[in-house]
Amino acid sequence: MNTQPLILVAEDEDLMRVILSGLLEGAGYRVALTASAEEALEKFTTEDVAVTLTDIRMAGMDGLALLDRIKDIDAEALVVVMTAYSSVDSAVAALRKGAYDYVTKPFVNEDLLQSVKNALTQRELFRENRALRRELDRRYSFSEIVGTSEALQSVFRLVEKVAATTTNVLVEGESGTGKELIARAIHHNSPRASRPFVAINCGALPETLLESELFGHTKGAFTGATANRQGLLRSAEGGTVFLDEIGEITPAMQVRLLRAVQEHEVTPVGAGGAVSFDARIICATNRDLEKEVSEGRFREDLFYRLNVIEIHLPPLRERREDIPLLVRHFIAATAREQGQPEKPISREAMTALINYKFPGNVRELQNAVERAFTLSGAEIDLDSLPPRVWESAGDPAAVRDPDGLRPTLAEIERRYIFETLASVNQDKARAANVLGIDLSTLYRKLKRYDAD
Ligand SMILES: Nc1ncnc2c1ncn2[C@@H]1O[C@H](COP(=O)(O)OP(=O)(O)OP(=O)(O)O)[C@@H](O)[C@H]1O
Ligand SMILES: [Mg+2]
Repeated sequence: MNTQPLILVAEDEDLMRVILSGLLEGAGYRVALTASAEEALEKFTTEDVAVTLTDIRMAGMDGLALLDRIKDIDAEALVVVMTAYSSVDSAVAALRKGAYDYVTKPFVNEDLLQSVKNALTQRELFRENRALRRELDRRYSFSEIVGTSEALQSVFRLVEKVAATTTNVLVEGESGTGKELIARAIHHNSPRASRPFVAINCGALPETLLESELFGHTKGAFTGATANRQGLLRSAEGGTVFLDEIGEITPAMQVRLLRAVQEHEVTPVGAGGAVSFDARIICATNRDLEKEVSEGRFREDLFYRLNVIEIHLPPLRERREDIPLLVRHFIAATAREQGQPEKPISREAMTALINYKFPGNVRELQNAVERAFTLSGAEIDLDSLPPRVWESAGDPAAVRDPDGLRPTLAEIERRYIFETLASVNQDKARAANVLGIDLSTLYRKLKRYDAD
């Protein structure tokens, strides 16, 4: 395969075309020769053109018009125009329209080749910038979500896949597991990233207020409605609406939301007719919505509309391997926020955190680390963690050895079991095999850890 850059030439004089192709091919480039702007435009859209070299004065569409059209297709396209010495003002016009450079005819061969070469260098810069920007975007939107567990890794993969689509997503998980973070990540990685992300907590508002917040209202629709209001579904136009605690909405609201989601339109309170909207809907709930459905508290049809893709965030206690990384992440974030250097954490403190059950999940861990960072001296130790953490880590004395550094045998066993489980994707049968114990023994041990 020829990987040399392709130079597109638009030139209506036969002799000039021959000269240009000889010159460019001699310099090692591939050349696509065309005799009119129309022909060149067609080639531009079908081939991977690196640089376009065009005469300005041509019959039919001229070089300036060609430049316009090419720039419409690709604003970063590199176009070098050729113009007679007598009409340099048209070269200036071309530069204003975004031409990269111009050469006057008759040209010195070296000048023309140099101009093409510069354009190619510029193209490389554009490419690198684009790659850099993509990389930054990716880092920005994923660096704030930390997790090495298989569970979170598969959530990341799902987020990436789902982000490219416009399907509705339901994020499910206990309080503090990161549902809103995931919703934002989906938005930031989607083609809608430059449009608004609006969040509303459905559990926090009474029905009538929620209704006018979501769907909008007309002026005078009710007491206090002093002006027209668009409503969130419409103000997120082209973007994403995050409906938090969707499990809390009343049956009447469920009916209205179902209609909106089905028809892609809303009827503002007090308005005569419906207006269409285009927003992706991501919902979150810490209830078991499927159970709510089976027990008749949540409409099944609405559930299926919202739950096209379900993302389940397991509680932190079921993915303890994420804890060390999260702890370091929050230490770094707190240090940055407080303008201080990072601090190490003692092994005891880390062990206690890994063993704690975290009913408040990642949010609770974050708070604990921020608190510990502020209270501790040079190192974060057990004493700076909230008492409930070390209390629940089992008998603190049992974890400590005389110099407070070495874990107990029981502690090592427990850690080794969790590590093994993580390495086999939480497959308990395989873990028991690797550990050389009966499955029932493993279950017994896990049960005891859970009870601690
Ligand atoms: N995997 C993670 N990596 C980094 N930070 C996280 C992660 N998961 C959650 N957090 C942080 O924990 C806090 C709680 O997350 P978030 O608000 O998304 O939880 P939630 O599931 O929406 O909770 P709730 O149900 O209580 O609203 C946030 O500060 C968030 O940034
Ligand atoms: Mg939340």
